[in-house]
Parts: sequence; structure tokens; C-alpha cells
Amino acid sequence: MGFSVAGEMMVECSNAVELEMRKILIATSNAGKLRDFAGAALRHGAEIAGIPDFSSLPAVVEDGLTFEENACKKAEEYSRYVPGEMVVADDSGLEVDALDGAPGVHSARYAAPDLQNKEPHETQANTDDDANNARVLRELRNVPAGQRTGRFVCVLAAARDGKTLATFKGTAEGIILDAPRGTNGFGYDPLFYFPQIKKTFAELSAEEKSRYSHRGAAFRQFLDWCMDTACN
Ligand code: IMP
Repeated sequence: MGFSVAGEMMVECSNAVELEMRKILIATSNAGKLRDFAGAALRHGAEIAGIPDFSSLPAVVEDGLTFEENACKKAEEYSRYVPGEMVVADDSGLEVDALDGAPGVHSARYAAPDLQNKEPHETQANTDDDANNARVLRELRNVPAGQRTGRFVCVLAAARDGKTLATFKGTAEGIILDAPRGTNGFGYDPLFYFPQIKKTFAELSAEEKSRYSHRGAAFRQFLDWCMDTACN
């Protein structure tokens, strides 16, 4: 795929002059998300990088009621640290139908009642993946196989200098198993069975996760937008 990221936009340039190759700046410290983005970028010939000194920046308070609100908040706040650069942030999670959409925006801290004696919306401290998975399994223990539907959702926001430029949403529909399966991935991946290829997300290669996941779907829309906007 012939494109470069030139400061702000990605340009598909089959016969264009060489543009300086710039990396897409991703605002996350989540190693699992970074691996997913790297896999998706590789698949599409793009390159990603973290924001310089990301770990020393104050954490953004994720108190939005929707994935979109939180993604925009993260992208806007972190983009202020890299003036003139486009920054991409992701807010994502698992929605389980039998739990009325929970864990949803609280996916990263769903086990807070078990580990911190707080509700997920009362804390900003993420909880351990195993504990989050254990809470979902406990709450679904009496739910029969046919009613264990759910989806991963990922909203990406692209922002520059504190302003959101666009957002992109990807989803992946699946079934929540009654025990973990697979060792790849992160978060709820081992519980999330994807019928289309009869594997959990923790059984996917990086290439497969990019092809089938919510994050891969959102990232492809982002790349399309980059190319369209720059070519218009
Ligand atoms: P946040 O977007 O940083 O608020 O956290 C997202 C949380 O949702 C992660 O910590 C995981 O628990 C869960 N999650 C989001 N995307 C995935 C995925 O691709 N696989 C497994 N879990 C995910």
C-alpha cells in the first residue's frame, strides 16, 4: 500500500512525490492495545508509535458515559502534549447482553468491587484482567449458552491540538464462554468466542486479531479517512 503519514494526514500517493514517513501517534499505555495497533498497522503498511514520555504524563480521568466520550477526552488531552501532531486514542470494552451491556465503559476496572471495595465508576484504578474475567464468569454462571451473546466495541478518536477531528467505531460480535480458552491477547480475549472462525480472541494470531477485531475494524476506518481527507 503506497502511503505516508505527512504530519497530519495519511496520503495514498501512487505517483506522488516522496513524503516524509511519519508514524501514527497512539495515546495508550495498554500493552495489549499497542500490540493490536502494531498488528493492524503492519497489515496495512502503516507505522505506529507511542507519545514520547507517555508514562510521565498525567493520566486522563475516564469518567465519560460512552466509549466515544472517553476516546475524545483522551485524544484531546494527550494531543496537547504534542502540538501540531495528530494523536489517536482508543476507548474500548466488552458489552454483554445478559448483563445489560456491562462491563461496557467500565471494562478495565470491572473487578473493583472485589478488589477495591468500590464500584467501577468510583475508581480510576484498573483491575487485573483475571479478576475482571472472574467477575463476568460469576455473573453469567446461570446464563445458558444461547443467551451469552456480546460484543467488543472500540471507538478511536483522532485529535490535534486539543480538538477532535473524527471518531471511528468498530465492533466484533461473539459469545462469552464459561471458561477461558487460549493464551494470546489480553483482557477478556480468552472468554470471547468468535463463531466466524471458531476461535476465542485469545487463540488468534496478531494478523487474525487485526482482521476480525473491533480495534482492527476501527483502525481500518481511520486509515480510510486519513487517505480520503488528504486526497480531497
Ligand atoms: P480502556 O479503553 O482503557 O478504558 O479499557 C478497555 C478495557 O476493555 C481493557 O482493559 C480490557 O479489559 C477490555 N478490552 C478492550 N479491548 C479488548 C480486546 O481487544 N480484548 C480484550 N479485552 C479488551
